[in-house]
Amino acid sequence: MKIGVYPGSFDPITLGHLDIIRRAAPMFDEFVVAVMINSAKHYMFDAAQRCDFIRRSTADMPNVTVETHDGLLAEYTRQRGATAIIKGLRAISDFEYEFQMALINKKLNPSLETVFLTTSSDYMFLSSSIVKEVGRYGGDVSGFLPPQILDDVVQKMRV
Ligand code: PNS
Repeated sequence: MKIGVYPGSFDPITLGHLDIIRRAAPMFDEFVVAVMINSAKHYMFDAAQRCDFIRRSTADMPNVTVETHDGLLAEYTRQRGATAIIKGLRAISDFEYEFQMALINKKLNPSLETVFLTTSSDYMFLSSSIVKEVGRYGGDVSGFLPPQILDDVVQKMRV
């Protein structure tokens, strides 16, 4: 059984993330979106909310599951028996950090591969942070978020 893991903060999931999930999930038997918890990081949405947003956005993809993990990604992928980590690459500026992450994860779990998908050109500019910034000032974020979660996310961002 081929298991792929797509890790991230997903605070919240954007159409850019969803595009990567839609393209990567068919390559695996099970595709796990792993919501990573870092106690040193401040999130706008708690882990349960982030998972709920992802589940609602991926409801039409039967092999996609959503889990949380508090700890090392390499350890989680070992526990899950994953074949590969999937990451999206938006720009060259993402590369240096992602390259370092791929190398440390390979050192910690040598049986693991990191596979990069280039982002669709429509979403090159998109990140959860930029969506939160636009939303905080009341801008229109409807083109950036899955429609299933739009109202809930907008409501929280305006508080
Ligand atoms: O969406 P993000 O915030 O860019 O995702 C980053 C994430 C969660 C994938 C990364 O920080 C991560 O893998 N965290 C888990 C801890 C870990 O394994 N770090 C790498 C080795 S130090």
